[in-house]
Amino acid sequence: MAFDVERVRAEYPALDEGFVHFDGAAGTLVAEPVARAVASVLRGAVANRTTAFAPGRRALRILADARAAVADLVGADPDGVVFGPSATALTYTVARSLARTWRPGDNVVVSRLDHDANVRPWVQLAGQHGVQVRWAEFDPQTGALPIGQYGELVDDRTRLVAVTAASNAIGTRPDVAAVAATAHAAGALVYVDGVHATPHLPTDVTALGADFYVTSAYKWSGPHIAACAAAPQLWAGTATDKLLPSPDEAPERFELGTPSFEQLAGVTAAVEFLATLDDTAPGTRRERVTASLAAAHRYDTRLFQTLLEGLRSTPGVRILPAPEGGAPTVSFRVAGQHPAETSAALGEKGICVFAGDYYAYEYFQTMGLRDSGGAVRASVYHYTTDDDVTRLLEAVAAQA
Ligand SMILES: Cc1ncc(COP(=O)(O)O)c(C=O)c1O
Repeated sequence: MAFDVERVRAEYPALDEGFVHFDGAAGTLVAEPVARAVASVLRGAVANRTTAFAPGRRALRILADARAAVADLVGADPDGVVFGPSATALTYTVARSLARTWRPGDNVVVSRLDHDANVRPWVQLAGQHGVQVRWAEFDPQTGALPIGQYGELVDDRTRLVAVTAASNAIGTRPDVAAVAATAHAAGALVYVDGVHATPHLPTDVTALGADFYVTSAYKWSGPHIAACAAAPQLWAGTATDKLLPSPDEAPERFELGTPSFEQLAGVTAAVEFLATLDDTAPGTRRERVTASLAAAHRYDTRLFQTLLEGLRSTPGVRILPAPEGGAPTVSFRVAGQHPAETSAALGEKGICVFAGDYYAYEYFQTMGLRDSGGAVRASVYHYTTDDDVTRLLEAVAAQA
């Protein structure tokens, strides 16, 4: 069988604790091979980077392997993969670096569908450089991000368009390739937040038209570390703040301080693991990870449909609208109940769902729901089962 959920679940020792996890959008459980890889670096002789002795060469190998792994995961060039502590930190680094060349009269385009990590760094850097901020609006009735508006938002003074590959609140997957085509025609760069998209679908940064693509490993069974992929020549042509003696070359120039070798080893193990989700998939690691994520997506989609239908038929539940075909994440509210109350009541039953705005700040502001507690979010991942969905629906029905 291409995707065998019981085989996959056996690789997540944390599932033995018995919680029901619909909180993958905030961070997934870690796969056992990842934990082993992290521990083996911490237990073994791994020094700081040097070619002089073997433990130092191991560190160099770990970093190179992790770049290659992320490159296979998202279809990028390994020499253009930069690591950092989080997607937020990496986006600030890129924003500060790119903004050095922005001039008053330039503009940047951000979207109200995005997580604040792909909004505020651009807004704040724009403010510091006298650059105008233009807002792409989502449709509150459908949750879609209409692409037509980019024709009006983007002009020859647009330096950057920031857009999400999937909303972490409602799963919407905007037509990033179309946004990128509009941006590129005007000479603007495109920064894509792939944090919520990467775990759920195969990614091809070239097909997306992403100049920069950021993703966090803790959303795809890995450790708490993030990567930003771009063409090596784009990094090479971008100046950044750095220490005098630290490497001048890209991508190292953008990685401040000593990297976390244990987490980098975990990144490689996570990609290797994802490539086995479909254990019949042949070919290179890139081909296997692509086929595996496609198989996991088919599995998730079926479960997510069951979840949506169940929520729709539960009286008192209001689902925040989202277009078909998004990431398997839904936000909802139970009538007369603060989202935090719903989340806590489900938590009492061992069911993990987040409540709040999950940093999708502009989305919840626009929906007029931020001040009243946002919503409750349930996200399906490839270790979710039919039984988990039934338990969640029963628990929500008991609250409604
Ligand atoms: C869509 C999206 N973008 C960005 C982030 C921020 O990621 P990080 O925690 O790695 O900074 C998150 C985290 O939840 C997210 O869901």
